[in-house]
Amino acid sequence: MHDKPMNDKQAVAIHAATYVKKGMLVGLGTGSTANYFIEELARLQTEQNLKVTTIASSHVSMIKAQSLGLSVVAITQVAEIDLYVDGADEITPDMTLLKGRGYDLVLEKLLAKAAKQFLVVTDKSKLVDRIGTNYAIPIEVMPFAWKATKRSLEAAGGTGDLRQNSAKDGLSISSHGSLILDMVFDQSISEASLNQLINNTPGVVEHGVFHGLASLVLIADNGNVEERWK
Ligand code: 5RP
Repeated sequence: MHDKPMNDKQAVAIHAATYVKKGMLVGLGTGSTANYFIEELARLQTEQNLKVTTIASSHVSMIKAQSLGLSVVAITQVAEIDLYVDGADEITPDMTLLKGRGYDLVLEKLLAKAAKQFLVVTDKSKLVDRIGTNYAIPIEVMPFAWKATKRSLEAAGGTGDLRQNSAKDGLSISSHGSLILDMVFDQSISEASLNQLINNTPGVVEHGVFHGLASLVLIADNGNVEERWK
């Protein structure tokens, strides 16, 4: 048995783990909420013999999962997974997500797409009316193409620049070697159009708008968890 959840991130992660069944191939997200989910999976494996195989969306999640005794396979071995559980930075009423603060967008979107079910673990603070309310949209670009790609995005109404690293003495590089443009778009553009616009821009490797991918959003609010299905 685990103790009472310490906070909403842990509460929602524990709730998400009730969807895991023995033998599943489970995708592990990245971030503080996803970390609680990894810890809960490891606990269920030890205490309830819930054996699963996992696949991680980042090096940091892979290292955490392995250190807790979970079996982790590489993306190269996998075309489809049973369940993917990950957090988000923003969630709209139509269940479009903004993700990518952790710069692992390529694997995160691959796993979201490869999953039979994509569960989003979140709390009330992440709910917004429109994508881009609280954060710019992270867009991973091929390093050699960033100027031309930025120009195309600006021509489509975006403004923004390359993301700096946290020490502010260089540029952020994603896990897969891309540069990251943080772009803001007019709030009148729909989530579907924004997704299409960025998808269709040459030089873009991946971006933080996850449209039409979530199957279930779990929203924690003071220890209670609401379920919103697609
Ligand atoms: C990483 C993500 C995270 O899921 C998102 O930033 C939420 O993080 P947290 O659970 O720490 O609030 O998209 O790329």
